[in-house]
Amino acid sequence: MIDTAYVEIGENARIWHPELVNIYGNKEAICRIGNGVNIGAFVEIGPGVAIGDNVSIGAHCFIPEGVTIEDGCFIGPGVCFTNDKYPPGHKDSWGKITVKRGARIGARAVILPGITIGENALVGAGSVVTKDVLAGVVVKGNPACSSFSKRILGILAVALQRNEFGLREFLKV
Ligand SMILES: CC(C)(COP(=O)(O)OP(=O)(O)OC[C@H]1O[C@@H](n2cnc3c(N)ncnc32)[C@H](O)[C@@H]1OP(=O)(O)O)[C@@H](O)C(=O)NCCC(=O)NCCS
Repeated sequence: MIDTAYVEIGENARIWHPELVNIYGNKEAICRIGNGVNIGAFVEIGPGVAIGDNVSIGAHCFIPEGVTIEDGCFIGPGVCFTNDKYPPGHKDSWGKITVKRGARIGARAVILPGITIGENALVGAGSVVTKDVLAGVVVKGNPACSSFSKRILGILAVALQRNEFGLREFLKV
């Protein structure tokens, strides 16, 4: 179902199975879908969502109120954006999510409320994104992090174990 009263759809947008999606808005929160956007089957897009131009949205994605996806992003199949950190919470406490221009999100990733995914960043399949992702960085896993952060954490863990530089006293651990 596409609620045409409160949904704006740009030119050349392709919704492959209009009968198998749920795209809706309301008087206060129009849902906007840009030009040249591709939307697969079994996708739900809620009120106030803004999707830029030339975005690809795979089948089975859930995109609730508060999500903005900028131009040229790739959203893999089954990606789940969330807005209510402590459900069921009041709407006033819901967090917004922004996916910046050109970012890519792998299949079945979960994005927690309040997150920004930077320009051209890449989120690995199945990741749970709990912190902002910097522009151009690849993150993966649960919780999602970059290989670089993981390496630094590994080095820190070893240094802590050996109590190098009096780290334990310094960090009070
Ligand atoms: C995240 C991703 C880009 C990493 O690619 P890569 O840098 O080539 O990584 P590699 O395959 O060399 O794997 C490097 C390590 O990361 C791990 N890894 C790779 N992808 C992972 C993921 N999504 N989640 C957790 N760990 C992952 C590998 O197991 C490997 O671990 P190891 O070093 O302990 O052996 C890729 O795996 C991915 O998830 N792409 C998205 C695919 C997708 O959903 N496409 C949607 C269209 S269908």
